[in-house]
Amino acid sequence: MLTLDEAFRKFKSRLELNEKETTNASNRQQEVRDYLDTKFKIDRSFLTGSYARWTKTKPLKDVDIFFVMKASENHYVSKAPSVILTDFHDALVQKYGDRARKQNRSINVDFGVKADSEDNTDYRVISVDIVPAFDQGSDFQIPDNELGKWIGTNPKIHADKAVAAHQAYSNEWKGLVRMVKYWNNNPKHGDKPIKPSFLIEVMAMQCLHGGWGGAFDREMQGFFATLADRIFDEWPDPAGLGPAISDGMNHARKQRAQTLLKTAEREATLAINLARQGRNGEALRAWRELFGPKFPLS
Ligand SMILES: Nc1ncnc2c1ncn2[C@@H]1O[C@H](COP(=O)(O)OP(=O)(O)OP(=O)(O)O)[C@@H](O)[C@H]1O
Ligand SMILES: [Mg+2]
Repeated sequence: MLTLDEAFRKFKSRLELNEKETTNASNRQQEVRDYLDTKFKIDRSFLTGSYARWTKTKPLKDVDIFFVMKASENHYVSKAPSVILTDFHDALVQKYGDRARKQNRSINVDFGVKADSEDNTDYRVISVDIVPAFDQGSDFQIPDNELGKWIGTNPKIHADKAVAAHQAYSNEWKGLVRMVKYWNNNPKHGDKPIKPSFLIEVMAMQCLHGGWGGAFDREMQGFFATLADRIFDEWPDPAGLGPAISDGMNHARKQRAQTLLKTAEREATLAINLARQGRNGEALRAWRELFGPKFPLS
């Protein structure tokens, strides 16, 4: 029978990107790029966000693509963020119909791929988030419709900080982040407990500290506990450019997140106790119940 350590390692690797997925993501990026090139003056585009940092979870959806505009499109930056989002949306609707949806900082394009009951998509990306961006020195400006202004961001700084955290944690940090993001996406919660899920990664920069202890189950228990303790803290943008990442939740949502995180911590404790009593099969089922179908039973 699978040991707990083997099960967590298998779970971790199931949440990793594989070559088929990166090929599909690149093809989708190219497809959207080829189309948007007929509508806007685009300098360059790249896959970014959690996808590029290897902190994206499965199923693979909302993969971020920055479309960095040429200087000749700079007129947009002096206008309200809604103007460029509307123009991008209008353009994308011509190609993708109602599968293109306007969001706060991006246009989401859904490719109509459905995840099966095991959260598999046959290695295809479900959707992408198309983000119009403008160079600002080595940073970028992107539109924020709810704030009604352009915000600064820098994916390179976020990526460097994630790499530093990962290395300081015996290269287990990204795996743990993907696992909690998978828990967060579990439909059993209804709405996601933690919003945006980038907040999990930002909190993990401080909530996973002291070094890797060597056991996934203990790490998870401690991680859920610390997330619950610190969900009411203010979590600024790690690059110091954009609005606080914790601004995405109001008090009631944070309260709800804390309750669900504490429940997860309790479930982890019970699963650890089952394993300690030698009830391995029950422990595996408890972890699967906690996380979802990608946690293996065999
Ligand atoms: N408030 C913010 N200020 C500055 N940059 C931000 C802010 N929020 C997000 N970003 C940047 O934009 C990227 C995309 O945001 P998004 O909300 O999709 O997060 P993500 O890390 O990609 O997580 P997910 O796995 O949920 O897609 C982030 O990875 C981060 O680099
Ligand atoms: Mg994203």
